[in-house]
Order: sequence, then C-alpha cells, then structure tokens
Amino acid sequence: YDISKIRNFSIIAHIDHGKSTLADRLLESTETVSSRDMEAQLLDNMDIERERGITIKLQAARVMHKSKKDGEIYTLNLIDTPGHVDFSYEVSRSLAACEGALLVVDASQGIEAQTLANVYLALENDLEIIPVLNKIDLPAADPDRVAEEIEDTIGLDCTDIIQASAKAGIGIEDILEAIIEKVPPPQVPEPDSPLRALIFDSYFDPYRGVVVFFRVVDGEVKKGDKIRFLASGAEHEVTEVGVMQPQQVPVTSLQAGEVGYICGSIKDVTDARVGDTITLSSQYKAAASEISKANGNKQIQEIEGAVPITPLPGYSESVPMVYCGLFPVDADDYENLRDSLGKLRLNDAALSFEPETSGAMGFGFRCGFLGLLHMEIVQERLSREYDLDLIVTAPSVVYKVVKGEGDNAVETIVDAPSKMPDLTRDIKAFEPYVKMEILTPSEYNGAIIELGQERRGILKDIKYLTPTRSTIEYEIPLAEVITDFFDQLKSRTKGYASMEYQITDYRESDLCRLDVKINYEDAPPLACVVHKDQAQGVGRKLVEKLKELIPRQMFKVPIQACVGVKVIASASISPMRKDVLAKCYGGDISRKKKLLQKQAKGKKRMKTMGKVNVPQEAFMAVIKLD
Ligand code: GTP
Repeated sequence: YDISKIRNFSIIAHIDHGKSTLADRLLESTETVSSRDMEAQLLDNMDIERERGITIKLQAARVMHKSKKDGEIYTLNLIDTPGHVDFSYEVSRSLAACEGALLVVDASQGIEAQTLANVYLALENDLEIIPVLNKIDLPAADPDRVAEEIEDTIGLDCTDIIQASAKAGIGIEDILEAIIEKVPPPQVPEPDSPLRALIFDSYFDPYRGVVVFFRVVDGEVKKGDKIRFLASGAEHEVTEVGVMQPQQVPVTSLQAGEVGYICGSIKDVTDARVGDTITLSSQYKAAASEISKANGNKQIQEIEGAVPITPLPGYSESVPMVYCGLFPVDADDYENLRDSLGKLRLNDAALSFEPETSGAMGFGFRCGFLGLLHMEIVQERLSREYDLDLIVTAPSVVYKVVKGEGDNAVETIVDAPSKMPDLTRDIKAFEPYVKMEILTPSEYNGAIIELGQERRGILKDIKYLTPTRSTIEYEIPLAEVITDFFDQLKSRTKGYASMEYQITDYRESDLCRLDVKINYEDAPPLACVVHKDQAQGVGRKLVEKLKELIPRQMFKVPIQACVGVKVIASASISPMRKDVLAKCYGGDISRKKKLLQKQAKGKKRMKTMGKVNVPQEAFMAVIKLD
C-alpha cells in the first residue's frame, strides 16, 4: 500500500460516446480481465441498462498498471458514473470519490448538454479533467473542430488532447499514462484520524445482504470491525472487505485513498445510502464520550451542535419529484405488487411507495421517483422481472398548497392531481421549477424558443459557444418537462439538441385541477393539474385524445373535461355498430380465432371505470397531447 501510487478517476461521457467500450479496453489492456473472459461491457451489469445502453447505477473497477515512464506499478480505480439527469446526485457522489475524470467526447459528434452538466459537477468537486476524443477511427470524425469546441465551452487546454478509438484500441496507453501523470494521488490523511469513507453506491445481494461501495478518505477498515453509518445511525459488523477487479475479491483491509466494498448482513439499503459516511463504531463512541464529558456528562443527543465525527460533505436525502399510480390489472396481484416493490426498494433507496385505493382502480400504490427515466425503469423491472401487468397513471409532479397567511399558514403536499383542492383566495398553490440548459446547433434556436414559450418557460440566456452552437437557458415548471418536452425538443431539432435540468425551487402558480368524466362519472386517475390559461386547450385536446384511445362500447360514451363544476370541453364515442365477428361471417375459423385473440390481448391492460373499459394508453394521454 502506497497512497502516492493510487489514482481514483471516473469517466464522463454522453450516452453512446463510448464510455463502456473504453472502460472495457482499460480493463482489458491492463490484463485485469483477460479478453476471452470478458463479457462485453462489464461495467454496466443490469439487464435494462444493457438493453437501453444507458448507465444507471454505478460500479467500480480496480486496475493495476505499470507506467512506461517510471516503471512503477500504479493502482487505478475507475468509478463509473450514471449518465442521466435523474441520477445527478449519484453522479456527484461518485465524482466526490475521485481526484480526476476522463472527459470522453465522440469526435464525430461534439459535446452534449448532459456531458457539460457533469463536467461542471466535476469542476465543482475540483477534479482534474483529462479530455479524450473517442471514435477517431470514424470517417466522420473531426477531431480539430471538436477539440476547439471543448476548449471554447469548458476552457480546457486541448492542444495535445488524446485522440483515441476505444473500438480499435487506439490511444489506450496514452490515456493510462495521462491518468497517472495528471490525476493527483489521494491526499495523505492526518495521522491517527478516525475512519471516514464515502459511500458512492450500494446494492442488495440476496445472499450477503447490502453490498456497499465506498472510498476511504481517512483511517482504515478491516473485516470484523463494527462500523457506523453517520447519517442513518445504523451499526453493523463487517463480514467481508474487498476490491472490485471488477469481480469482488476479498482483502484484509482498506486504507485511506483506496476504493472497495464491504458487506455485513445489512438488510436494507436505506441503512447505507449513497453519500453517507462510514466510520468505526468504537471511534464514534470514543469521540462522543469525550464531548459528553466536556459538557458535564450530558447525553450526546442533548448537546446542541455536537458532532463526534464530521461527516464527509454532501449527504442529502433523495426526494421523489415525480409520482404516479400503479394498479395491478388483476386485483389478485396486489400482494405480489407490494412484495415486488419492496424488493426493488431494497436496491433503490430513492423509490418510495404507499398504498392508494381508488374507487375506479381498486387497490394499488402511489409511487415516487427521482424523475421520468427512474419511473420507466421501475415499471419495466416490475413487468419484466416480476411479471406484473400494471395500469400506470400519468406522472405528475409534487405540488405544495398553502392555506391561510403568516403564522397560521398550513402547508400540504399534493402528490396526486385528484387531491389538488380548488384554489380560493386563501389557498395558494406552488409548483416545482427547474433550471434547464439546452445545447443545440444555432439554427434551431428559434424552434426551441417557441417550444419554451408554449411550455411556460422563462428564457434566461442564450450563449453562442461557437458560431454554430448555442446554449439556451430556461427556468421552466417541472410539470411541463415531464410531459413530452424531451420528445418535442428532439423532433423540432431533428434530434440534434440535448438538454439537462435541475430542480431549483417552488413558485406560486395559478393552477387548477382538470377533472375528466367518462359516461358522466368522475375518473380521478385521469385528472390533471394545469395552469389556468392552459385549461381550455388541454381540456379540448384531452377529450379528443381519449375519444381516440378508449374503444367503442355498445352504447354512446360522453367524455367531459371540467374545471370545478364547469364543463370546458366534451366529446363522445359513438357506439359500436356491429358485432366484431359479423364482418367475417362465413369466413374461415382461423381468421375468427385471430380476431378474438386480438381482442383478448387488447383487454389485458384495461380498467373498467363505471361501465367503460379504459385502456392503459388513455391513462397516459395527458402527457402526450401534441
Ligand atoms: P452508455 O452506456 O449508454 O453511457 O454508452 P457508452 O458511452 O458507454 O457507449 P458504448 O461504449 O456503449 O458505445 C456506444 C457505441 O459506440 C457502441 O456501438 C460502440 O461499439 C461504439 N463505439 C465505442 N467506441 C468507439 C470507437 O472508438 N469507434 C467506433 N467507430 N465506435 C465506437
């Protein structure tokens, strides 16, 4: 163990720019993994990640590399970062565990908004950034232009930028040497300082309990130690300490600067959350009793501001920002859904859920997520891994409602549109706003500003990075972002623009609840909250869309959108004219069977509201109105 020979780094890259391929190359070239054993793209190991080609949870790997320059062997710890905005808190924690980052940019594309956001996070964490141009083997690669763009946008010196191809194995040696040369080694801790280790990831293993990934900042952790998690207060005995190569290999101890994992029959990931600090129980108790003695033997909890061991900076609870309802199609699946959510939560501290009952939908759950992608992933895992057929209601943001003034004001959190009260003079509603940064070829600035305007955005700034590329900054309600904003942005810019946002604050808004009635009956799961000025337009589009999506019944079905008692838009579904089989009268039996089968399939994800069957798509109609 020699702290000066350790380098901790991560890779920042936009989706598809080649992060996983490069990571594999680094592992392969240092013979951490022989190429024959190498399952392609080792670092992304969740099925959905692999399929969607996105990195969700972080993982880490340790590689040993003999420097060509000084012939010494270095330990390089690669800490993978998730690439999506929903997980930006986890990105910043994994960056906090590093001293440097590779910035990988596709030399045929250029830098994207999400990459920029992560670069800023890295700069805030004082990381040394090493830019790398990837995919230089592509004919469309334009390294000079992209290098200039990186210089202009981030201000990094790109004169001797590394040109690489993760696919063809070009530049890999240069990258390894640059990491050793440019990324500083971990800081040497004060002698005898107590253990402090930063958790950057954890997951639930059915056999060993929660496996916690961390970076030691001060002190040492060994097998058999009793550890304490500072934020959660949980204590556990360490049953295994190890490093990731990237498969987990036990070691006897880990010291300052090192990266590894521990297990200790921890049953719940909420005990060991990302961002929390690990210390030793004994050290914590000793420090606490000293403070207690100095304060006349008062209990540590009763001494104001007493902190026996200072946590590493940056822990924050993850707050769900998007909610939706999950209801089993088949009511008998309710228990199964609850167990499955419970299991997912063991692995995902950011997921929250509580029972929700609705007259129309039966028993289900109201679930909270970090953002839209997080929501989609959970839904997909429920249907894929737990084989559940679910009706999912449209996502909505979390509103705050304040009743009364001054000291008498009472604040309530509204996490479902149907729970939004009617706003009167003494009831005010607040909604979350985000700061959004859009990166785009400048020719689409006009189209984007138009979109921003339609979505109640406040244009804050337009910057020309180069004559042909701009960043546009907006403050915009989150509710407008979780509808089809991203799809619209992509379609209006031919796919060229990218965006990134961060929730900033709650602002008062003139909101109203838009109720939907089907066949004159209230359908609370279809209700939504909109700005008063948009109510008319949304109402009209929504009833038209529902008319398309809800299949015909034997009778006429009126659909109405109402604000309060006032009907603001309506449409009606005309009754079915013929029996579905009538048109194949005399036709062969297999055709008939097919038709019936098709119908049966169509029935699968439906809920009966009153007398009307409402399909899954109708519940999502409100977020796809354009
Ligand atoms: P996420 O996991 O979604 O973040 O993507 P990623 O950045 O990890 O990208 P990945 O490594 O999966 O690469 C994306 C695609 O680019 C794959 O089809 C790779 O084969 C390809 N690719 C990666 N590096 C190179 C390269 O140097 N040259 C060429 N031509 N293709 C590359």
